[in-house]
Order: sequence, then structure tokens, then C-alpha cells
Amino acid sequence: MPTVSINGTSCSFAPGQTILDVARAHQIDVPTLCWYPKLPTVANCRICLVSVAGQEKLQPACYTPAAEGMVVETESDSAIESRRGVLSLLLERYAGEHLAAGKGREPRNEFEEYVVRYGVPVAPHGELGLRSGDERPGDTMIQHDMSLCILCTRCVRACEDIQEVGVLDVAERGAHSHIIVGGDGDPDHAGCTWCGECVRVCPTGAIFEVIPKQRFGAEALRTPDKVARSICPYCGVGCQIDLQVKDNEVMRVTSPWIEEYSPNQGSTCVKGRFGYDFPQHRDRLQAPLIRKGWMRNGDRWAWTGEQPRHREGPWHTIEELGQQRKPRPPGRSVGKSRTTGLPVIEDQDVRDRVATPSTWYSAFREATWDEAMSLVAQELLRIRTEQGSGALAALASAKCSNEENYALMRMVRAGLGTNNVDHCTRLCHSTSVAAMNRALHTAAASGSMREIEEACDVIFVSGANTTETHPVFGALLKRAVAKGAKLIVADVRRTELASMADIHLQMLPGTDVALYNSMLNHVIAAGLVNQAFVAARTRDFEQVRAAVQPYTPEMAEKITGIPAGTIRHAAEMYARGPNTSTLWAMGLTQHSTGTDIVASLLNLMLVCGMIGRWGAAMIPIRGQNNVQGSSDMGAIPFAYTDYRSVTDPGVRGEFAKAWGVAEESLSLETGMMVTEMVDESSPIRGLYIMGENPVISDPDIAHAEHWVRSLEFLAVQDLFLTETARWADVVLPGSSFAEKQGTFANTDRHIQLSDAAVSPPGQARRDLDILIDLSNRLGLETSWQSPAEVMTEIASVTPSWRGVSYEMLLRRRAIQYPVPDADSEGTPFLFADSFPT
Ligand code: SF4
Ligand code: SF4
Ligand code: FES
Repeated sequence: MPTVSINGTSCSFAPGQTILDVARAHQIDVPTLCWYPKLPTVANCRICLVSVAGQEKLQPACYTPAAEGMVVETESDSAIESRRGVLSLLLERYAGEHLAAGKGREPRNEFEEYVVRYGVPVAPHGELGLRSGDERPGDTMIQHDMSLCILCTRCVRACEDIQEVGVLDVAERGAHSHIIVGGDGDPDHAGCTWCGECVRVCPTGAIFEVIPKQRFGAEALRTPDKVARSICPYCGVGCQIDLQVKDNEVMRVTSPWIEEYSPNQGSTCVKGRFGYDFPQHRDRLQAPLIRKGWMRNGDRWAWTGEQPRHREGPWHTIEELGQQRKPRPPGRSVGKSRTTGLPVIEDQDVRDRVATPSTWYSAFREATWDEAMSLVAQELLRIRTEQGSGALAALASAKCSNEENYALMRMVRAGLGTNNVDHCTRLCHSTSVAAMNRALHTAAASGSMREIEEACDVIFVSGANTTETHPVFGALLKRAVAKGAKLIVADVRRTELASMADIHLQMLPGTDVALYNSMLNHVIAAGLVNQAFVAARTRDFEQVRAAVQPYTPEMAEKITGIPAGTIRHAAEMYARGPNTSTLWAMGLTQHSTGTDIVASLLNLMLVCGMIGRWGAAMIPIRGQNNVQGSSDMGAIPFAYTDYRSVTDPGVRGEFAKAWGVAEESLSLETGMMVTEMVDESSPIRGLYIMGENPVISDPDIAHAEHWVRSLEFLAVQDLFLTETARWADVVLPGSSFAEKQGTFANTDRHIQLSDAAVSPPGQARRDLDILIDLSNRLGLETSWQSPAEVMTEIASVTPSWRGVSYEMLLRRRAIQYPVPDADSEGTPFLFADSFPT
């Protein structure tokens, strides 16, 4: 390998690396301002100039290629003098008076640290005065203070090249240059997504987040009490975020360093960066609630309210509200401070409320934990004794951790004796799981999000509005397209991705199967079948050929409304790849024929051989932050962890042993799905819900409300008194993502560790602690002391998680399963050689 000498150290390098690349690789610090990892190099600030032997002039380290035998001095007298000159010039137009006042001891940002490091005096501002520019006045999330701008243009490039948005720009030339926001200063008009990437890269704080600064002050922001690495609670991308804590409150979210390994590569979207105040919401439940009417007599609880029971409350039911016109939405609550004295909007209409109406609490009284837990245990056991285990069910949560979902499904199976446990996956990607299981015997993505940017030639996105629903992944897709990948979008809507696609297959709603079958028909007709893959890796190809034979592009044109020529073009582009990735989301899966739609898409993928290598990924884009993990953990009615069947006596025996219970106590009958539970003929009489709100999330919310009202007993563990919880007998205050440690599995199989940042409010408890307590009260001995212990048990009963432990995750934070042993580096993509069929 060639070498250069930097400050007397011999450093090897790879061709194409700059002096800065080589220095960084050898932990030699070279100051930089305009340079930033992964951004195009502009080399305009000149702070990185270094001496190179034999060169008359100083050279920009960020731009100059390293060459064999080069001798570099990064802190030569001339380099330092030049740097001081650069900093001095920048200071002429920079509001840095506090540096002079504090005698240079209090640098507030990256730029000021260099000023202090090189001992540059803060001189009076030159005649040009401080910079100005577009400052986003009135923006509730991001504003600019252009008196701090040094015109490094990192923000412009980050917006353009990482987020692929292009809101910011530099206007005018020379001394008059300044940062602008779109054509008219309005970020909305310019398409800003409030992702905060510009905030992240700005080296001076000229671009800043408004809310934390207003609530906590600049000084507090510089001196957090604690920084906890967490996982964003919003979508399936699983962005790693850092929660900055002051006085037991999350004051700000930042993101990991861009070069750290994480699914988000350091980016976030508006939700992750700004949507962190719900853990501190004034309506958080702080004590257990028991419905008025339940009275304790000795150690037994009895219902003393109306008989027969009919759950009522001083509020409108969903059905009643549905008969009224929807009122105007309340005023924007964005940026609202809890101390501004703004009135609490207590609209009775659940469709728009931003606060819990006080009437909802009136049906309850506050209770102790012992009261609440003893009532829950008594009623669940009573129903089990009187009506059998089949009368009980539980809903797990795709927002809760793997450990919590595991603990809940264990409690339901071993404590209540039923497989009636399910969660919201039923309403999003269960059709994908069914189709993938049928085709490949798998229930997760085959590949990684990052391979699409690194190695994919054609991206096929179906029924997914990724830039809106999974913005960080959406930005990655846009970067892949900018780098040359072709994009085909199949969507009834003209989404942002559709508008930039090479081909937009805008089919009529509900005609997906005809479209994918006709693409496959043309692939076969055009001789584009991947014969080797089909022969080696698939079966029943002739049946598939026969099935799609009638779906000529001309016939599909009549069904889908897409011209036959466009279908042919898309089919050829897809099949020719060479590496095509197949992505889809709920535009496919939430059809009543979702399984068939996904199956027809998978047929196309398999016939073209577009799976099993880096760049050809199959990714169902998951919705909630742990919908993958909740299913992996067996919070579904037909499988234990790793999708091992509950009807298999051998599997049952394994779990019975791990849980220390008799085999016969675990049911061999498949449990009920949530869609069956809510059916009118459902036998469910007692229900335990952890962190789900079916009265809002069910496709027919009035029907769901009827159902929960008809139950004999309902317990809800949640953060807020939700539309579902207001009908409960007992409400147990749980913990938000910021208040507990746990792991989450994202859409590309990353198991990631999230740390606790703050403690739960009031008497609220960590969800895992609630489940441990309840399991013990139900007679299921449960001795875990921490989520780490739960993970140890998960690993012992879950083959594809066998090597996972907290020790490993504390070290590396994220790993893609399968993880067969403790030394494994994880599995970025699956099925290189075979399918588990
Ligand atoms: S918030 Fe994001 S989209 Fe908006 S200007 Fe900044 S980088 Fe661009
Ligand atoms: S606002 Fe910040 S990132 Fe943008 S040019 Fe100015 S100093 Fe650089
Ligand atoms: S960092 Fe090299 S010129 Fe700015």
C-alpha cells in the first residue's frame, strides 16, 4: 500500500483518498469547516490548509489527493498562520463578542472551538457588518440567526445531497452572499420537510431548533444532564437518536454522528427530531385508575355498579360522533409550551382532540398499584375459571419493546393458557407475512435499506409513499435515484416518488394483481426469465406461467388503465436489473386480497431472480417502530418466537421447559386474530391491552367500540386515557420509549438497543415491571430483574436471535438477525444460496 508521512507518522492510504481522509483514518486531527462527511467537497473555507513538502503553496487537505511519498505537516507555522487569518476574517462578520468577554474560554460551537484553539482575537466587526439572510421568522421549529453564519454552505449541501430537497441556497456573490430559503423565504413553499438535517450540520448554531432553545435556554442545551441513545418511536426505519436530558425531561433530540453505523446514517425526519415531547405531555397517566363501581371487600373485588353491566360515560360514543358533522379542527398546537398558559382544548370530538377531555376521567377513581393489579388478576383468573382460557385475549403492542412483547405473550400463553394474543400487525403487514411465508418461508425483509443506495440498479416501489411515511428511507431512495438507480413506482397516487420515477404505473385502485401478472407475462414472453434461478431455486414455475398467461399487457391495460407499452417497458426494466429491489407497503397489504397481491409481486421477483444478493433486496416497509419485533417475539396467535408454530408439540415442549410450566398448560390450538376477536360471534369476554388503541386503529372504529364496551372485563396498560382506555375497568399507567431500556427490530431486521433517558412520571411504571408483577399474580413465576435477563431468555428460545445479548448490544447498538452466535456480525442479506422452504 502507498504511504504518506503526516506529522512524521507514516500513513498508508488507498488510491483516491485525500490528505484529510488519510489523516482521519490515522486519528490525526485537521481542522475543517466547510468539509463534512458524505457531503460534496467544496473546499471554500481554507481552514484545512496544510504544508506539503516541495509545494510552494499550502494545500487544502480536504481536496488534495494523497500521493506516494508525500510529506505533510498539518500544524506547520505557515498552516497555523493561514488558519488564524481565515478565522480572523470569518470573525469579522460573526457575532462572537461573548468570546472576547469570556476571554475565549467559552466556545459554544465547532467554529468557536477553532477560534479558541488558535487564539484568534475577536476584533470589531468590519465595515461589511454581520451577515443577514432568510431567517424563517415565525417558524415554530427551525429558525436562523444569520449573524452566526460563516457561509460554509454545509446546510445547503446537506439539504440538497443528503435529504435531496434543496430548500436552501446561497444568494448573490462575494461579500453579499447569504443563505436563502427557497425563492421567497418561506420554507413551506420551498418544500422543507423540517427534517433538521441543516440544524445538525451547521457548525455555528446559526440554524437552530426553536422549541428547546425557548423552553430550556441555550446554556442548558450546551450542558445536558445526560444523553441517552434511543430508537425513534415512530416508524419502521428504526432511526437511532440521542435524547438530551435536563431535569428529568427530554429537552432535545440529536442524531448520532453521520459516520456511526446506524440504519439512519445519522439523519432523522421531522417526527424523530421534533416529536419527542409526548412523554412529557400533561395528560400522561400518573396513577392507576379503577372504574367507579368496583369495590373491594376483604381481598375480593365486586362490581357494585349498574346491573347488567353496560359501559357508559359522559361522552359521545364513536357512533354518535359519526352522526355529527366533523367540527373545525382546533388551532395548531405545534410548539406549544406547557408553561404558556394556553387553554387546554378539550374538544369532545375524538377526531380532533389534542388533550384528554376531563369528563373521561370522571368514570374512574385513582387507585394504588396493589388495588389495580389485584383486580386485574382476579378478573382474568375468574373468567378463565368460569368460561375457560378461550374467553381471554390480549393485545400486544408494535410500539413496545421486544422484551415487553415477549413477556406479554409468555404471560398470555403460560399464565392464561391461550394463544389469543395479537397486535396491530394484523392490520398492516400480516398479508405480507402470509405471502412471504407461503413463497419463501420467511416473515421479514431479505435485505437492507442501505444496499439500495449502495448497489441497486432498479428500485420497484409498490403502494408505498415512502418520502412521507418513512422519510429517512425516502431520502435514501432519492439519493439512490440521484446516483443513477432507475425507479419504477406502482401507485394509484402521484406521490413524490412517483413524480420522480422513470416509470409511474398509475393503476386503477384494486387492479394490482393484474398489473404484476401482466408484467410477469411479458417477462416470460420477452425471454427475460432468469432461467438458472428458476431452475435452481423455485418450483411450480409452469403453474405460474399458466396462471399469468391470460394477463397480456393489452388485457391488463383494460383492467388497470395503464397502457400496454408502459407495462412492457416496466417489466423489461425490472427484469433486466441487473440488481432490482422490490419494496412495498400498505398500498398493497391493506386490500382484502392483500396476500394475493403480495404473492403475485413475489412471483415476479422470483421469476426474475431478484433476491439473494446485495442490491436485489425484498423489503416490506414496516409501519410501526417494532411491528417486526412484536411478530418475531410471538405476539401473534399462531406462533411462538421465530414464527415457530403453536400447534407443534415439540415446540410447545421447548417453551414449556423454558418457562417452567407443564406442557399441557400451553394450548396447541391456534389463537384468535384481532379481526376475529372483534367479530360479533367472538367468545372473548376478558381482554388485556398493552399500548394499543383499537377504538382508533380498527378499520371500523364504531364496531370496535361496541366490542370493547361489551366485554366483561377490560384492562388497558397505556400512557394516556385513550379512546379505548376510557371504557376500561382498570387503566395501568405505563412508560414511554424514553423511560425504559429495551430492544426494537426495524424493517430491515436490525435489533437495536434503546436506553432509558428519564424516569416515568408520577407512579407510572415501566411496562416490563407491570407485566412481571401481573404474571406473578396470575401464578406464573417470573423472576426477571431487567430487560437484559429477558433478552437472555429470548435468545435461548429463538434460533435466529441465539447470539444476541445486552452485552453485545451495549457494544454495537445494532445487529441484523439472524445472529446465530455471540461472535456473529449479523446478516445484512438473506437467501444467497437457498430459501428456508
Ligand atoms: S429542515 Fe431539512 S428540508 Fe428543511 S431546510 Fe433543513 S435540511 Fe432542508
Ligand atoms: S447557516 Fe450554518 S451551515 Fe449554513 S452556511 Fe451558515 S454557518 Fe454554514
Ligand atoms: S475544510 Fe477544507 S477547505 Fe474547508
